[in-house]
Amino acid sequence: MGKNIVLIGFMGTGKSTIGQRLARKLGMIFVDTDREIEKITGMTVAEIFRKHGEKRFRSEEKLLAHKLAQREGLIISCGGGMPLDPENMKVLGENGVIIGLKASPEDVFRRVMRKRHHRPLIDRELTLERLRAMMAEREKYYQCAHITVDTSTHGIEELVHKIILNLK
Ligand code: S3P
Repeated sequence: MGKNIVLIGFMGTGKSTIGQRLARKLGMIFVDTDREIEKITGMTVAEIFRKHGEKRFRSEEKLLAHKLAQREGLIISCGGGMPLDPENMKVLGENGVIIGLKASPEDVFRRVMRKRHHRPLIDRELTLERLRAMMAEREKYYQCAHITVDTSTHGIEELVHKIILNLK
């Protein structure tokens, strides 16, 4: 088993969808860091934020990044905030290729509003303008990706193919 494939990007850019498709195609194991943290803590991401605060969630993310970096053959779909701590990307990047995902603010808005109950950083008052600002603030953190693909302008199969070609 080779290195891991690490997917990063803003909420709603398609990390889980692309990740699961890649895992099936490459015979690798899919890991979603949010779901993993929920298993480890026995709480949902929303509960961790509500009961213990964002700081606690970020420290769970950091512990998990170190743990996953020691394994191989994983497709790791990172929570949108994982790259906020550069150390997370350093350890994950040492044992994996980092793929960035992006999408238009309009698509992200539609996707995140659908599942906003699971996303503590998204509230019902969110506007497209506010989302644009959040995405712009985050942009620099996603620049550590080796390649970045756009899920607004390209279909899933095409992107999965492109990512696989880039691994060689
Ligand atoms: C977050 C993104 C979420 C989740 C948490 C915080 C962020 O993951 O980790 O709500 O800070 O961008 P998704 O990108 O899978 O929605």
